[in-house]
Amino acid sequence: MELFPRTDFLRQDSVTRGPCLRINLREMGANMNMITIRRPDDWHVHLRDGDMLRSVVAHTARQFARAIVMPNLSPPVTDIRAGRAYRDRIVDALPEGMAFEPLITCYLTDGTDPNDLARGFEEGVFTAAKLYPANATTNSAHGVTDIANIEQALARMAGIGMPLCVHGEVTDAQIDVFDREKVFIERILAPLVERLPALKVIFEHITTEDAVRFVEEAGDTVAATITPQHLHINRNAMLAGGIRPHAYCLPVAKRERHRLALRGAATSGSPKFFLGTDSAPHTREAKENACGCAGIFNAPYALESYAAVFEEEGALDRFEGFTSEYGARFYGLPLNEETVRLEKRNCPVPETIDAAGAAIVPFHAGETLGWKFVG
Ligand code: NCD
Ligand code: ZN
Repeated sequence: MELFPRTDFLRQDSVTRGPCLRINLREMGANMNMITIRRPDDWHVHLRDGDMLRSVVAHTARQFARAIVMPNLSPPVTDIRAGRAYRDRIVDALPEGMAFEPLITCYLTDGTDPNDLARGFEEGVFTAAKLYPANATTNSAHGVTDIANIEQALARMAGIGMPLCVHGEVTDAQIDVFDREKVFIERILAPLVERLPALKVIFEHITTEDAVRFVEEAGDTVAATITPQHLHINRNAMLAGGIRPHAYCLPVAKRERHRLALRGAATSGSPKFFLGTDSAPHTREAKENACGCAGIFNAPYALESYAAVFEEEGALDRFEGFTSEYGARFYGLPLNEETVRLEKRNCPVPETIDAAGAAIVPFHAGETLGWKFVG
């Protein structure tokens, strides 16, 4: 990462990335008005399909070079043919001249054929496979009902180095919604990692201190993505002073101590934690509803949102690793060569964004962020 103004003193410190730089950045205060980083990638995004896809894809493609695109369409992307077709639809939906590489994931079901899955990875159609426990979240009805049903597929993935993206929540009605991630670690994830230590696992959109600790203590084959919303809000944002559906996503935001643990992990410089927005657009009507959909649309100001967190934590020197390096390394993909910039200036976030002829309320709606993505 380059920090402006480019003084020798700063450049030297940005290589060592020690605590010294952080103190220096604070001292530089107002002079620190631009960040230049390698173009980042989004390791977890929902781009949807049809009109919604055409409306939202540019928001992600503007900031990110590549993205791991979630397969929870209706019907879900469960085989090679559907994977290729979805990739083509995403590329077709991109505005003229916009470079962006969608990395497609295969939605695992009880009936996933291990051979088809492996072939999809080897032919470059699928970058990873996604485990949704059945009914854990939006469009997951076809998900896996018992992990034993995909054991052979997982073993095959471990053998060929195909990463597994995990929605880490149990769906047991007996388990409190706020405990579902923790119980998933105990019942499913820890035993899985022990059974298949070679399997690359991305524990996605983690929301708890328990998940942070689990990932830190696991081997190098286990990493996690962290969303902007889980770094900014705790459950009060959703429930205090009225019910606020635009702060509702899955896994739900937890207590403050969990948010603080996530901020610690994201800004720690550990390569096990990297950017995954989980941007999940739903129309305003679908959110402001007696049974509102889970999902926060954060793509339009994703980098600005993460930058605010890193600045508040005095960790801008660790921003680039989180946004642009650790994820690609974990997936075994090359780092992007081009760079992008954020400027220190007011970035007002609109109340709504038009999409597919409807309004979507973005994350941070009506707020003003302190950094602006300038490309
Ligand atoms: C996602 C969606 O809407 O597809 N919603 C969400 O709250 N994150 C699904 C998911 O990732 O759980
Ligand atoms: Zn998601």
